[in-house]
Amino acid sequence: MSSVIDGKSVAATVLEECRAEVLELKARGINPGLAVVLVGEDPASQVYVGSKVRTCGDLGIHSQKIVLPASTSQEELVAVVRELNADPSIHGILVQSPPPKHIDEEAVVRAIDPRKDVDGFHPENVAKLALEDKTGFVPCTPAGCMRLLAAAGVKTAGAEAVVIGRSMIVGKPMALLLMAKGSDATVTVAHSRSHDLPAICRRADIIIAAVGRPEMVKGDWIKDGAVVIDVGINRIEDPSKKSGYRLVGDVAYDEVAPKCSAITPVPGGVGPMTIALLMKNTLQAARQLGSATS
Ligand code: GUN
Repeated sequence: MSSVIDGKSVAATVLEECRAEVLELKARGINPGLAVVLVGEDPASQVYVGSKVRTCGDLGIHSQKIVLPASTSQEELVAVVRELNADPSIHGILVQSPPPKHIDEEAVVRAIDPRKDVDGFHPENVAKLALEDKTGFVPCTPAGCMRLLAAAGVKTAGAEAVVIGRSMIVGKPMALLLMAKGSDATVTVAHSRSHDLPAICRRADIIIAAVGRPEMVKGDWIKDGAVVIDVGINRIEDPSKKSGYRLVGDVAYDEVAPKCSAITPVPGGVGPMTIALLMKNTLQAARQLGSATS
């Protein structure tokens, strides 16, 4: 039987750590601030941005929510980012992904001051992660997955870890974190061109599913006793729900759970961790920028 890794409870612990750190920073005269920029009206992004701002409020972190129309030009968005770079009340800047199609997301990320890049997407922070330089920002979702593994008592050293998905937001940084010194896993990164994904997964002691395909990982892909972290948050139609949809992960939970030693649910697994680690990163930015200027 598997144990269910309760992301809400682990996230609550992280948020309590943050609450204490906010007080400590404020006592030193540093008032942490996060700006969240949303371009367009993607319904899922609206929900995520709302939760990020609400969580800031709960912790006493100053937040600024900037909602721009879908017609916003690349230049206008970069101008907003530059203003936030120059704003001393803002320590963290996040532009919610994905932006509308006409926006060059990479150029926007490069415009963010790397010292305020709490998403950890700027090339400087990507490099720092690869170099294991702890002054950089680690992307929130993979950092949250690592914290879930630790909270569940999962030993990563020497383990076979399979990351499904090679995105810059999750797959690549996840692989770097798992292989870093101290984690010491043997890491395989699988993706849409990988041959025989089920066979690759059957080798894994730890599977991180981050492909964005509803319930793709099946029960017979899982080695007995493996640990499964499901990063997927997919909306699928469900007429029995008031909203008309329900959320499922990238893992076929009902088939997979009985074979695992531990698994994260969707919702209530990785999702709450992403926000909690964003708060951590914002406080890291405030601490680093605060000590640089005081
Ligand atoms: N969209 C989905 N996940 C993320 C994230 O971690 N950061 C940003 N900026 N956008 C996202």
